[in-house]
Amino acid sequence: MTASLSPFPSPFSSSAVPGEPPAEAVAPLIRGVAVLTALTEAGGTLSASALERRTGLARSTVDRITATLARMGYVRQDGRDAVLTPRVMELGNAYLAALRLPALLDAHADALADELDESVSLAVADRDGIRFIHQATRRRAMSVSFRIGDLLPAERTAPGPLFAAEWTETEWAHWRARRAADPTDAGFPAVPPRSPGGADDADVGVVADGFDDFDDFDGFEARAERARREGWALDDQLIEPGLVAVSVPVRDPGTGRVACVANVVSHTSRHTAADLRDTLLPRLRTAVAAMERDLREARPAEPGPPPAGLAVWTTASKHELGRDFVESLARGLTVLTAFGEGRSALTLTDVAKATGLARATARRALITYEYLGLVRAADRAFTLTPRVLSLGYPPLSRTTLARLATPHLRALADRLQEPTALAVLVPGTDPAEIQYVAVAAASRVLTVDITVGTRLPASRTALGRALLELDGPHGHALADEELESGLRSIAVPVRDRAGRPVAALNVAAHAARRSLEELVTDVLPELRTTADRIQDDLRTASRFSGVPLS
Ligand code: PHB
Repeated sequence: MTASLSPFPSPFSSSAVPGEPPAEAVAPLIRGVAVLTALTEAGGTLSASALERRTGLARSTVDRITATLARMGYVRQDGRDAVLTPRVMELGNAYLAALRLPALLDAHADALADELDESVSLAVADRDGIRFIHQATRRRAMSVSFRIGDLLPAERTAPGPLFAAEWTETEWAHWRARRAADPTDAGFPAVPPRSPGGADDADVGVVADGFDDFDDFDGFEARAERARREGWALDDQLIEPGLVAVSVPVRDPGTGRVACVANVVSHTSRHTAADLRDTLLPRLRTAVAAMERDLREARPAEPGPPPAGLAVWTTASKHELGRDFVESLARGLTVLTAFGEGRSALTLTDVAKATGLARATARRALITYEYLGLVRAADRAFTLTPRVLSLGYPPLSRTTLARLATPHLRALADRLQEPTALAVLVPGTDPAEIQYVAVAAASRVLTVDITVGTRLPASRTALGRALLELDGPHGHALADEELESGLRSIAVPVRDRAGRPVAALNVAAHAARRSLEELVTDVLPELRTTADRIQDDLRTASRFSGVPLS
């Protein structure tokens, strides 16, 4: 662990801090990953000076990296803050699509969560940690709830011992070294810190009495051995009081090894850990048997189209932005998007072809990613690791349509100097009503006053008509002084991945300021561009998890 001697910032606060980067590693890519990781661990937003502090990079470097990430659509600049945008989820989506387990297993997990009325999650091994790849959350108040991409220390979870049952001696040694170096789990920002030798250690039977008990911290090796024998494992409040889980491995039909672990998660106010084992474990096992059947019967994944025109795009951006565009960072990040469904193991030639990058460029990016633990190389093929989810995924995986639309509404209102709003249909209303879920006021003094939560009759608003009456892809709806004299409005639908209208976006204007024709000629193109951007974000964010409307 020589990170402090390295000329590069460590992008990881946690375990497995790599040593010196190889000579061919791309320094700007390491720095870009450090910035994305810092933003992710901070919940998605940091000021430039906070980024400087957290990454140890010079301010000018932070600024150029942020500008490049902004150009790629991975962050947006909001005053002094850099904010992760939903587009950054395409990196984690590349991993999840290549892995294929979410596409094959998420529906089983969701159905089990419905059946049990408890949270169900899927986790994969990430070295000596576990990382979530799916969450079907039913969690009520009272306990922490984890997100897709969150990393937990294996020994404080139920799936951990099931993975550890397959560890080699090297992996155990790595785990012991991490426990000794990080006794409070500071490297795992998603979990509450542990107090070394505290009550939670006593609960699992063995007290970690400092540094001379490396061999069996918390009895974890005993738990792993038991998990191997029994084929299931429990978490009896290892993360925090009240939180309990039972887990069963889902095995890869080809190798017989644990592909992922399915977990049922509850709270002691509803189930004790023993209760989970006695009542819910059998149903979890049935669900896992169905998951394994689907893995066995799955046809080989159909490779989707590789991303188009990326190398051309980066060159054009360099011409436009000059010094502020860090081309080697942009090129390096596009390498991750070369992976996906049916493209899980790629050779150097595959990556170069998919991205349009020169082989030498693609090779240096892959070497950099291997060093950072984001890519694994075996038999001349490269695969993404679960750590790719640490690049922006957790803070965005719980977003809502209203939240992801808000910056786009703000930009539209600023461009047009008119108020704009996003509304949805209120389920079960007859006659139908709409409800505003996001608004952006115009900065002018005299403006139309709408607030989030306001409900209106759908048939009398452009927003309602855009939701109810349009079926073509490019329709729009107008309302002319119907609700209020002097107020007119134009709206377009916002569609989900399946093309269903899920919301409508409008711009309102005082009749004195814009005629109906002007709304169509001047406002509609802007409205459509904004709706397209919202739809793009929604498509990326909803690929592997549901995005609630508000
Ligand atoms: C979760 O999915 O939130 C979860 C899973 C396993 C645990 C704890 C929490 O041991």
